[in-house]
Amino acid sequence: MKSPALSPRMAAVAALIPDEGVVADIGADHGRLAVWLAGRGRRVIAVDVSAPSLAKSAALAARCGVADRVSCRLGDGMEPLSPGEAQIAVLAGMGGRTMEEILSADPVKTRTLQLVLQPMNAGGALRGWLYRNGFGIMGEGYGVERGSIRQVFRARYGQVDPMRRFDCLIGNWELASEHPLFGAYLIQESGRCRTLMACACRGRKEASARRFAELERQLALYEGAMAWLAQHLKS
Ligand SMILES: C[S@@+](CC[C@H](N)C(=O)[O-])C[C@H]1O[C@@H](n2cnc3c(N)ncnc32)[C@H](O)[C@@H]1O
Repeated sequence: MKSPALSPRMAAVAALIPDEGVVADIGADHGRLAVWLAGRGRRVIAVDVSAPSLAKSAALAARCGVADRVSCRLGDGMEPLSPGEAQIAVLAGMGGRTMEEILSADPVKTRTLQLVLQPMNAGGALRGWLYRNGFGIMGEGYGVERGSIRQVFRARYGQVDPMRRFDCLIGNWELASEHPLFGAYLIQESGRCRTLMACACRGRKEASARRFAELERQLALYEGAMAWLAQHLKS
């Protein structure tokens, strides 16, 4: 059987995976990415904390004839990986806070891996964790799923990027500006801030004032990045 098709979101994840090295797909679930990579000759370790989810990965690998290149392991986060057996870890389609928990559970193991991360929310908090723990952003990408543009980024311990245009909400502006969806992502996120600000106005006084101020800060960052991008693309 042919290897499975990747959604544009998963294709954006695949595009940031380095060409060399064993890939651990943490939270592999349906197994499409793991099997797609194995179909291209890569060795993959598919990890999931849920037995039924992992069974989907194993079944797809068997159907596509790549079971010998996909090692399926039941367990929590990086725990099923032996030190040094994978060089790259992909965490995609989970919340940013869950990813932070997985990465911080075993910092020594995490530091040895190139990380490809595609959070569904709380991307800013995840980037903040990476920044505080000595990881640099090495690549930025975007992929569309169900009408939403999702961010994906690659990080590596000790590879601190120049940070000239970096913030924990948006990431590395220079790297992001190389992607054709960066501008559309900024428009999407500033629109989301405006919608949430309108809702925050209707909420309880103190909490909603704090929420409103945070959204205002985020909106200013997105608008600043849009103005910078317009100049950057002209020059
Ligand atoms: C929404 S699916 C995402 C599947 C795929 N990575 C994607 O991007 O489409 C999230 C998967 O992560 C798994 N998961 C959640 N927490 C986990 C953890 N701590 N360790 C391993 N897997 C986890 C869930 O069981 C689920 O199968």
